[in-house]
Amino acid sequence: MELNRRTVMAGAAAAGLAATTLGTGSARAATGPAGRRPAKELFGTLADGTRVYRWSLENGGTRLKVLSYGGIVQTLEIPDRHGRHANVVAGFDNLADYVAKSPYFGALIGRYGNRIGKGRFTLDGKAYQLSVNDGVNSLHGGAKGFDKHVWHVEPFTKGSDVGLHLHYTSVDGEMGYPGTLRTKVTYTLTRHGDWRIDYEATTDRATVVNLTSHVYWNLAGEGSGTIEDHELSIAASRYTPTDPGLIPTGELARVAGTPFDFRHAKPVGRDIRAGHEQQVQAKGYDHNWVLDKGITARPEHVATLRDPRSGRTLRIATNEPGLQFYSGNFLDGTLAGTGGRTYRQGDALCLETQHFPDSPNHAHFPSTVLRPGQTYRTSTMHAFGA
Ligand code: GLA
Repeated sequence: MELNRRTVMAGAAAAGLAATTLGTGSARAATGPAGRRPAKELFGTLADGTRVYRWSLENGGTRLKVLSYGGIVQTLEIPDRHGRHANVVAGFDNLADYVAKSPYFGALIGRYGNRIGKGRFTLDGKAYQLSVNDGVNSLHGGAKGFDKHVWHVEPFTKGSDVGLHLHYTSVDGEMGYPGTLRTKVTYTLTRHGDWRIDYEATTDRATVVNLTSHVYWNLAGEGSGTIEDHELSIAASRYTPTDPGLIPTGELARVAGTPFDFRHAKPVGRDIRAGHEQQVQAKGYDHNWVLDKGITARPEHVATLRDPRSGRTLRIATNEPGLQFYSGNFLDGTLAGTGGRTYRQGDALCLETQHFPDSPNHAHFPSTVLRPGQTYRTSTMHAFGA
Protein backbone atom coordinates (compact mmCIF):
# COMPACT_ATOMS: atom_id res chain seq x y z
CA MET A 1 0.00 0.00 0.00
CA GLU A 2 1.26 3.45 -0.86
CA LEU A 3 1.57 5.73 2.15
CA ASN A 4 -0.24 8.97 1.66
CA ARG A 5 1.10 12.23 3.06
CA ARG A 6 -1.40 12.28 5.94
CA THR A 7 -0.25 8.82 7.08
CA VAL A 8 3.40 9.88 6.90
CA MET A 9 2.73 13.09 8.84
CA ALA A 10 0.75 11.23 11.52
CA GLY A 11 3.59 8.73 11.83
CA ALA A 12 6.12 11.55 12.07
CA ALA A 13 4.13 13.29 14.79
CA ALA A 14 3.94 10.03 16.72
CA ALA A 15 7.70 9.63 16.38
CA GLY A 16 8.20 13.22 17.57
CA LEU A 17 9.73 14.44 14.27
CA ALA A 18 9.41 17.99 12.98
CA ALA A 19 6.87 18.20 10.17
CA THR A 20 9.16 20.53 8.17
CA THR A 21 11.61 17.70 7.56
CA LEU A 22 9.04 15.91 5.42
CA GLY A 23 7.27 16.65 2.17
CA THR A 24 9.30 18.41 -0.50
CA GLY A 25 12.70 17.64 0.94
CA SER A 26 13.47 21.34 1.28
CA ALA A 27 15.79 22.20 4.13
CA ARG A 28 14.01 25.53 4.54
CA ALA A 29 10.73 25.98 6.38
CA ALA A 30 8.02 28.15 4.84
CA THR A 31 8.37 31.84 5.62
CA GLY A 32 5.91 34.69 5.29
CA PRO A 33 2.37 34.62 3.98
CA ALA A 34 1.94 32.33 0.97
CA GLY A 35 -0.24 32.87 -2.03
CA ARG A 36 0.38 36.50 -2.95
CA ARG A 37 -0.80 36.96 -6.52
CA PRO A 38 2.04 37.40 -9.07
CA ALA A 39 2.35 40.99 -10.34
CA LYS A 40 3.34 42.14 -13.82
CA GLU A 41 5.07 45.19 -15.28
CA LEU A 42 6.11 46.21 -18.79
CA PHE A 43 9.69 45.03 -19.51
CA GLY A 44 10.11 46.15 -23.12
CA THR A 45 8.66 46.21 -26.62
CA LEU A 46 9.75 44.04 -29.56
CA ALA A 47 10.47 45.55 -33.00
CA ASP A 48 7.00 44.47 -34.21
CA GLY A 49 5.34 46.36 -31.34
CA THR A 50 4.62 43.32 -29.14
CA ARG A 51 4.83 44.18 -25.46
CA VAL A 52 6.92 41.98 -23.23
CA TYR A 53 5.95 41.77 -19.56
CA ARG A 54 7.91 40.80 -16.50
CA TRP A 55 6.14 38.85 -13.77
CA SER A 56 7.27 38.90 -10.14
CA LEU A 57 6.59 35.97 -7.83
CA GLU A 58 7.60 35.36 -4.25
CA ASN A 59 7.02 32.48 -1.88
CA GLY A 60 8.86 30.77 0.96
CA GLY A 61 11.81 33.17 0.72
CA THR A 62 12.39 32.69 -3.05
CA ARG A 63 11.85 35.59 -5.46
CA LEU A 64 11.44 34.96 -9.16
CA LYS A 65 11.14 37.31 -12.15
CA VAL A 66 9.87 35.80 -15.39
CA LEU A 67 9.56 37.37 -18.85
CA SER A 68 6.73 36.60 -21.26
CA TYR A 69 9.48 36.53 -23.93
CA GLY A 70 10.87 32.97 -23.98
CA GLY A 71 9.44 32.25 -20.52
CA ILE A 72 12.81 33.56 -19.39
CA VAL A 73 13.72 33.40 -15.71
CA GLN A 74 15.43 36.78 -15.54
CA THR A 75 16.29 36.72 -11.84
CA LEU A 76 15.92 34.17 -9.06
CA GLU A 77 16.85 35.26 -5.55
CA ILE A 78 17.45 32.91 -2.64
CA PRO A 79 19.02 33.43 0.79
CA ASP A 80 22.44 32.25 1.93
CA ARG A 81 23.12 30.67 5.32
CA HIS A 82 22.84 34.11 6.96
CA GLY A 83 19.54 34.87 5.24
CA ARG A 84 21.10 37.24 2.69
CA HIS A 85 19.43 37.09 -0.71
CA ALA A 86 21.34 37.06 -3.99
CA ASN A 87 20.27 36.62 -7.58
CA VAL A 88 21.70 33.22 -8.55
CA VAL A 89 20.94 33.11 -12.30
CA ALA A 90 22.63 34.79 -15.26
CA GLY A 91 20.57 37.20 -17.34
CA PHE A 92 20.29 40.67 -18.84
CA ASP A 93 18.63 43.82 -17.48
CA ASN A 94 17.02 44.71 -20.83
CA LEU A 95 14.98 43.09 -23.60
CA ALA A 96 17.24 44.19 -26.49
CA ASP A 97 20.13 42.06 -25.21
CA TYR A 98 17.87 39.02 -24.83
CA VAL A 99 16.70 39.44 -28.43
CA ALA A 100 20.13 40.19 -29.92
CA LYS A 101 22.66 38.03 -28.13
CA SER A 102 21.36 35.74 -25.43
CA PRO A 103 22.96 32.28 -25.17
CA TYR A 104 19.54 31.05 -23.98
CA PHE A 105 19.87 32.72 -20.53
CA GLY A 106 17.01 31.41 -18.36
CA ALA A 107 14.85 30.48 -21.35
CA LEU A 108 12.37 27.74 -22.11
CA ILE A 109 13.78 25.51 -24.84
CA GLY A 110 11.71 23.83 -27.54
CA ARG A 111 10.76 22.03 -29.52
CA TYR A 112 13.92 20.08 -28.91
CA GLY A 113 16.43 20.73 -26.14
CA ASN A 114 20.00 20.33 -27.36
CA ARG A 115 21.13 19.09 -30.78
CA ILE A 116 19.72 17.05 -33.62
CA GLY A 117 22.48 15.92 -35.99
CA LYS A 118 22.40 17.78 -39.34
CA GLY A 119 18.89 18.85 -38.32
CA ARG A 120 17.56 15.65 -39.85
CA PHE A 121 15.44 12.78 -38.68
CA THR A 122 12.99 10.23 -40.07
CA LEU A 123 9.65 9.49 -38.44
CA ASP A 124 7.16 6.90 -39.69
CA GLY A 125 9.20 6.63 -42.90
CA LYS A 126 9.12 10.36 -43.67
CA ALA A 127 12.29 12.46 -43.64
CA TYR A 128 12.27 15.90 -41.99
CA GLN A 129 14.78 18.74 -42.35
CA LEU A 130 14.88 21.14 -39.42
CA SER A 131 16.26 24.65 -39.14
CA VAL A 132 20.03 24.37 -38.78
CA ASN A 133 21.62 26.98 -36.46
CA ASP A 134 24.74 25.40 -34.90
CA GLY A 135 27.17 24.59 -37.70
CA VAL A 136 25.47 21.79 -39.63
CA ASN A 137 23.26 20.86 -36.65
CA SER A 138 19.99 22.05 -35.16
CA LEU A 139 20.33 23.39 -31.59
CA HIS A 140 17.57 24.13 -29.07
CA GLY A 141 14.71 24.08 -31.60
CA GLY A 142 16.42 25.87 -34.50
CA ALA A 143 16.97 29.52 -35.48
CA LYS A 144 13.77 30.70 -33.79
CA GLY A 145 13.09 28.31 -30.96
CA PHE A 146 10.62 28.63 -28.09
CA ASP A 147 13.12 30.90 -26.32
CA LYS A 148 12.47 33.60 -28.96
CA HIS A 149 8.66 33.63 -28.86
CA VAL A 150 6.30 35.57 -26.63
CA TRP A 151 4.30 33.22 -24.41
CA HIS A 152 0.78 33.82 -23.14
CA VAL A 153 1.08 34.02 -19.36
CA GLU A 154 -1.64 33.37 -16.77
CA PRO A 155 -0.86 33.87 -13.07
CA PHE A 156 -2.36 31.63 -10.41
CA THR A 157 -2.45 31.02 -6.70
CA LYS A 158 -3.43 27.56 -5.52
CA GLY A 159 -3.44 26.73 -1.83
CA SER A 160 -0.06 27.89 -0.59
CA ASP A 161 1.50 27.82 -4.11
CA VAL A 162 1.91 30.75 -6.48
CA GLY A 163 2.81 30.43 -10.13
CA LEU A 164 2.43 31.08 -13.81
CA HIS A 165 0.97 29.05 -16.64
CA LEU A 166 2.84 29.82 -19.87
CA HIS A 167 1.27 28.86 -23.20
CA TYR A 168 2.77 28.71 -26.66
CA THR A 169 1.37 27.03 -29.77
CA SER A 170 3.93 26.11 -32.40
CA VAL A 171 2.37 25.78 -35.85
CA ASP A 172 2.75 22.72 -38.08
CA GLY A 173 6.07 22.97 -39.90
CA GLU A 174 7.61 25.61 -37.63
CA MET A 175 11.42 25.23 -37.77
CA GLY A 176 10.74 22.11 -39.86
CA TYR A 177 8.95 20.13 -37.14
CA PRO A 178 5.73 18.32 -38.04
CA GLY A 179 2.46 18.88 -36.16
CA THR A 180 0.81 21.76 -34.35
CA LEU A 181 2.33 21.56 -30.89
CA ARG A 182 0.27 23.07 -28.07
CA THR A 183 2.60 23.68 -25.17
CA LYS A 184 1.87 24.61 -21.58
CA VAL A 185 4.61 25.15 -19.03
CA THR A 186 3.79 25.81 -15.38
CA TYR A 187 6.22 27.54 -13.05
CA THR A 188 5.25 27.01 -9.39
CA LEU A 189 6.85 28.51 -6.29
CA THR A 190 5.91 26.46 -3.26
CA ARG A 191 5.57 27.71 0.29
CA HIS A 192 8.99 26.14 0.94
CA GLY A 193 10.48 28.41 -1.73
CA ASP A 194 11.03 25.51 -4.15
CA TRP A 195 10.62 26.10 -7.88
CA ARG A 196 8.82 23.45 -9.90
CA ILE A 197 8.46 23.28 -13.69
CA ASP A 198 5.73 21.15 -15.28
CA TYR A 199 5.82 20.77 -19.05
CA GLU A 200 2.84 19.59 -21.11
CA ALA A 201 2.34 19.30 -24.85
CA THR A 202 -0.04 17.78 -27.37
CA THR A 203 0.22 17.44 -31.14
CA ASP A 204 -2.07 16.84 -34.11
CA ARG A 205 0.59 14.91 -36.09
CA ALA A 206 3.37 12.58 -34.98
CA THR A 207 6.38 14.67 -33.97
CA VAL A 208 9.36 14.78 -31.60
CA VAL A 209 9.51 16.89 -28.42
CA ASN A 210 12.13 17.53 -25.76
CA LEU A 211 11.41 20.58 -23.60
CA THR A 212 13.79 21.98 -21.02
CA SER A 213 14.86 25.11 -19.14
CA HIS A 214 18.17 26.84 -19.80
CA VAL A 215 18.83 28.57 -16.48
CA TYR A 216 22.50 29.40 -15.84
CA TRP A 217 23.28 29.00 -12.12
CA ASN A 218 25.86 30.68 -9.95
CA LEU A 219 24.86 30.09 -6.33
CA ALA A 220 27.41 32.64 -5.09
CA GLY A 221 25.49 35.28 -7.05
CA GLU A 222 25.37 36.13 -10.76
CA GLY A 223 28.43 37.99 -11.96
CA SER A 224 30.43 37.00 -8.85
CA GLY A 225 33.03 34.91 -10.70
CA THR A 226 33.63 31.25 -11.43
CA ILE A 227 31.46 28.25 -10.58
CA GLU A 228 34.54 25.98 -10.49
CA ASP A 229 34.41 25.77 -6.70
CA HIS A 230 30.72 24.78 -6.65
CA GLU A 231 30.33 21.14 -5.59
CA LEU A 232 28.23 19.02 -7.89
CA SER A 233 26.90 15.49 -7.72
CA ILE A 234 24.99 13.72 -10.50
CA ALA A 235 23.40 10.30 -9.94
CA ALA A 236 24.61 8.85 -13.22
CA SER A 237 27.02 5.98 -14.00
CA ARG A 238 27.06 6.75 -17.71
CA TYR A 239 27.07 9.70 -20.09
CA THR A 240 26.70 10.14 -23.84
CA PRO A 241 30.07 11.00 -25.49
CA THR A 242 29.82 13.20 -28.57
CA ASP A 243 31.48 13.84 -31.90
CA PRO A 244 33.26 17.20 -32.45
CA GLY A 245 29.90 18.81 -33.32
CA LEU A 246 28.61 17.73 -29.87
CA ILE A 247 26.26 15.12 -31.37
CA PRO A 248 26.13 11.87 -29.34
CA THR A 249 28.04 9.02 -30.94
CA GLY A 250 25.40 6.63 -29.57
CA GLU A 251 27.71 5.13 -26.96
CA LEU A 252 26.60 5.09 -23.30
CA ALA A 253 30.05 5.37 -21.73
CA ARG A 254 30.89 4.66 -18.10
CA VAL A 255 31.89 7.65 -16.00
CA ALA A 256 34.01 5.51 -13.65
CA GLY A 257 37.68 6.53 -13.79
CA THR A 258 36.97 9.63 -15.91
CA PRO A 259 36.48 13.36 -15.16
CA PHE A 260 32.78 12.70 -15.87
CA ASP A 261 32.32 10.86 -12.57
CA PHE A 262 30.13 13.09 -10.37
CA ARG A 263 28.54 10.22 -8.45
CA HIS A 264 30.12 11.68 -5.31
CA ALA A 265 30.07 15.44 -4.91
CA LYS A 266 33.24 17.16 -6.12
CA PRO A 267 34.15 20.72 -7.10
CA VAL A 268 33.26 21.38 -10.74
CA GLY A 269 36.81 22.58 -11.35
CA ARG A 270 38.59 19.56 -9.86
CA ASP A 271 38.86 17.58 -13.09
CA ILE A 272 37.83 20.20 -15.65
CA ARG A 273 41.41 20.55 -16.93
CA ALA A 274 42.12 16.80 -17.01
CA GLY A 275 42.48 16.88 -20.78
CA HIS A 276 40.06 14.02 -21.51
CA GLU A 277 39.41 14.18 -25.26
CA GLN A 278 35.66 14.66 -24.63
CA GLN A 279 36.42 17.74 -22.53
CA VAL A 280 38.92 19.18 -24.97
CA GLN A 281 36.36 18.85 -27.74
CA ALA A 282 33.59 20.53 -25.69
CA LYS A 283 35.87 23.14 -24.03
CA GLY A 284 34.79 21.72 -20.65
CA TYR A 285 31.64 19.84 -19.71
CA ASP A 286 28.80 19.99 -22.24
CA HIS A 287 27.36 16.50 -22.08
CA ASN A 288 24.26 14.51 -21.31
CA TRP A 289 24.45 12.31 -18.21
CA VAL A 290 22.38 9.11 -18.35
CA LEU A 291 20.55 9.22 -15.04
CA ASP A 292 20.71 5.89 -13.19
CA LYS A 293 17.06 6.07 -12.18
CA GLY A 294 15.88 6.21 -15.83
CA ILE A 295 12.43 7.59 -16.68
CA THR A 296 10.27 7.71 -13.57
CA ALA A 297 6.58 8.37 -12.97
CA ARG A 298 7.45 11.15 -10.51
CA PRO A 299 10.41 13.49 -10.14
CA GLU A 300 13.29 11.80 -8.31
CA HIS A 301 16.45 13.42 -6.98
CA VAL A 302 19.25 13.41 -9.60
CA ALA A 303 21.71 16.21 -8.83
CA THR A 304 22.89 18.53 -6.07
CA LEU A 305 24.82 21.77 -6.55
CA ARG A 306 26.34 23.54 -3.56
CA ASP A 307 28.31 26.73 -3.14
CA PRO A 308 30.51 26.17 -0.08
CA ARG A 309 31.05 29.90 0.53
CA SER A 310 27.41 30.99 0.81
CA GLY A 311 26.08 27.57 1.78
CA ARG A 312 23.38 27.85 -0.91
CA THR A 313 22.32 24.50 -2.32
CA LEU A 314 20.17 23.45 -5.24
CA ARG A 315 18.70 19.97 -5.38
CA ILE A 316 17.18 18.87 -8.68
CA ALA A 317 14.55 16.17 -9.03
CA THR A 318 13.06 15.11 -12.35
CA ASN A 319 11.22 12.30 -14.07
CA GLU A 320 13.41 12.78 -17.17
CA PRO A 321 16.14 10.23 -18.05
CA GLY A 322 18.92 12.73 -18.87
CA LEU A 323 20.73 15.77 -17.54
CA GLN A 324 22.84 18.10 -19.69
CA PHE A 325 25.60 19.61 -17.59
CA TYR A 326 27.09 22.58 -19.42
CA SER A 327 29.93 24.41 -17.65
CA GLY A 328 29.41 27.78 -19.37
CA ASN A 329 32.19 27.08 -21.88
CA PHE A 330 31.07 29.58 -24.50
CA LEU A 331 30.82 32.56 -22.11
CA ASP A 332 33.74 34.69 -23.26
CA GLY A 333 33.64 37.97 -21.39
CA THR A 334 31.64 39.85 -24.06
CA LEU A 335 28.21 39.81 -22.36
CA ALA A 336 27.36 42.06 -19.41
CA GLY A 337 24.73 40.64 -17.08
CA THR A 338 21.94 42.02 -14.88
CA GLY A 339 24.42 43.29 -12.27
CA GLY A 340 26.56 45.06 -14.91
CA ARG A 341 29.48 42.61 -14.70
CA THR A 342 30.68 40.57 -17.66
CA TYR A 343 30.43 36.80 -17.79
CA ARG A 344 33.62 34.87 -18.53
CA GLN A 345 34.05 31.16 -19.24
CA GLY A 346 32.71 29.12 -16.32
CA ASP A 347 30.98 32.04 -14.57
CA ALA A 348 27.69 30.07 -14.59
CA LEU A 349 26.58 26.51 -15.33
CA CYS A 350 23.46 24.81 -16.67
CA LEU A 351 21.77 21.62 -15.49
CA GLU A 352 19.17 20.87 -18.15
CA THR A 353 16.81 17.98 -17.40
CA GLN A 354 15.87 16.33 -20.67
CA HIS A 355 15.71 13.33 -22.98
CA PHE A 356 19.05 12.64 -24.65
CA PRO A 357 20.31 14.88 -27.47
CA ASP A 358 19.73 13.60 -31.01
CA SER A 359 17.36 10.87 -29.77
CA PRO A 360 15.37 10.84 -33.04
CA ASN A 361 18.51 9.40 -34.69
CA HIS A 362 19.34 6.79 -32.02
CA ALA A 363 16.80 3.98 -31.74
CA HIS A 364 18.29 2.77 -28.43
CA PHE A 365 17.83 6.14 -26.68
CA PRO A 366 14.50 6.71 -24.85
CA SER A 367 11.96 7.87 -27.44
CA THR A 368 11.04 11.53 -27.88
CA VAL A 369 8.15 10.79 -30.25
CA LEU A 370 4.76 12.32 -29.40
CA ARG A 371 1.63 11.20 -31.25
CA PRO A 372 -1.87 12.65 -31.53
CA GLY A 373 -3.96 11.61 -28.53
CA GLN A 374 -0.93 11.43 -26.21
CA THR A 375 0.06 14.13 -23.73
CA TYR A 376 3.73 14.89 -23.17
CA ARG A 377 4.31 15.47 -19.45
CA THR A 378 7.56 16.01 -17.61
CA SER A 379 8.39 17.76 -14.34
CA THR A 380 11.50 19.14 -12.71
CA MET A 381 11.76 20.36 -9.13
CA HIS A 382 14.41 22.77 -7.85
CA ALA A 383 14.69 22.70 -4.06
CA PHE A 384 16.83 25.39 -2.46
CA GLY A 385 18.56 25.39 0.89
CA ALA A 386 21.39 27.04 2.76
C1 GLA B 1 23.52 23.93 -24.31
C2 GLA B 1 24.44 23.27 -25.26
C3 GLA B 1 25.71 24.03 -25.33
C4 GLA B 1 25.45 25.47 -25.67
C5 GLA B 1 24.53 26.07 -24.70
C6 GLA B 1 24.19 27.49 -25.10
O1 GLA B 1 23.88 23.73 -23.00
O2 GLA B 1 24.68 21.93 -24.95
O3 GLA B 1 26.55 23.44 -26.27
O4 GLA B 1 24.87 25.54 -26.93
O5 GLA B 1 23.36 25.31 -24.63
O6 GLA B 1 25.29 28.24 -25.40
